[in-house]
Amino acid sequence: MATINSNYDKLPATYLFSEIAKRTAVFAKKNPGVEILKLGIGNTTEPIGHVVISGLKKGVEKLSKLSTYSGYGDEQGDSRLREALSNWYKKSKIQIDPLEIFVSDGAKADSANIQSIFDSGNKIAICDPVYPVYKDSNILAGRENIYYMSCTEKNGFFPDIPKNKVDLIYICSPNNPTGAVATKAQLKRFVDFAIKNKSIIIFDAAYFAYISNPKLPKSIYEIPGAKKCAIEINSFSKWAGFTGVRLGWTVVPMDLICQNSKRGKLNSLWNRRQTTMFNGASNIAQEGGLASLTSDGVKQCQKVVNYYMQNAKLIRITLERMGLKVYGGQNAPYIWLKVPLGMTSWDFFEKLLSEAHVVGTPGSGFGPSGEGFFRLSAFGHRQNIKKALTSIEKNLKI
Ligand SMILES: Cc1ncc(COP(=O)(O)O)c(C=O)c1O
Repeated sequence: MATINSNYDKLPATYLFSEIAKRTAVFAKKNPGVEILKLGIGNTTEPIGHVVISGLKKGVEKLSKLSTYSGYGDEQGDSRLREALSNWYKKSKIQIDPLEIFVSDGAKADSANIQSIFDSGNKIAICDPVYPVYKDSNILAGRENIYYMSCTEKNGFFPDIPKNKVDLIYICSPNNPTGAVATKAQLKRFVDFAIKNKSIIIFDAAYFAYISNPKLPKSIYEIPGAKKCAIEINSFSKWAGFTGVRLGWTVVPMDLICQNSKRGKLNSLWNRRQTTMFNGASNIAQEGGLASLTSDGVKQCQKVVNYYMQNAKLIRITLERMGLKVYGGQNAPYIWLKVPLGMTSWDFFEKLLSEAHVVGTPGSGFGPSGEGFFRLSAFGHRQNIKKALTSIEKNLKI
């Protein structure tokens, strides 16, 4: 007799973005002909530069010839890409061996799957609000012991270290949705805590490219000791425009240890997990990844990132001019708006949609501490962003 995984019933009934799509569709049906402007979803919109496109094309071309064709590759990733990523870390004076790098098809799957190499009794700490995958993947794995680290105006949207012992700590910096970026001192407190308690930090750096302040860390390995206690998950999605191409990587250092594991054990567990359940990233995507790591590739990717950050600046300036309180959007593509008039996040969603015809994301969808806040995304074509901002400034009654 088959039975379902009833942990699925413990997840929120609807996925946040499905609920947004549903409510937007209802509005569109009631208001035919009205143009709906989207500042909601964190999806890239701008074309990829020619250097990276050439890499992707090279990947396709190689498949057309007997001499260069390849089928399944190494589950851990193309050794050239692992080497290139290791060299990329070296530029920030971080030593990561290629064997510590696991290429993947993106950070979402890795951030959901990484918990599987840890015991189901482990206590989890997650930021609140945050990208929902960390929590949901642990709930599906049967972990109910979750410690929420509140990120509020008072702590600058970066949490204090947990008051109790916890085993796995998820940190996302720059944070989705608040746009807050941890300082080196803040990360050091977590690294020290993790080493002391034999906890593991799972650090999601998917938005690292949006950090322009040189004092802010782009990798947790900028913090001394982090290789003993932290896994880093990263992505080509938001810095190389690979949201649809699909490519990411995870670093599991050899030095990483926890309560019942020796040096190298966690690396071998992740290797086992990936070789058992993953068949390697697309060889075409990996050629594109290699091209994006060349000096010209990096420059072209950064140009697109800067374009989104210019959008972020426009959003911030407009909202501030209207007297609204805004956070984030300076080293991250998300603007975290304090909802005016004491409204709830969903009430503000309806107000923004009905008055300005703009769609954003209610903060409460990312965790209870997101209530009273609203996420606006800087991903989008400039003319659409400008149109949305003009409409907000003209039509939103606050
Ligand atoms: C914090 C965070 N991590 C990971 C991802 C997903 O990255 P990928 O496209 O590499 O799966 C997202 C996507 O929005 C994200 O916001």
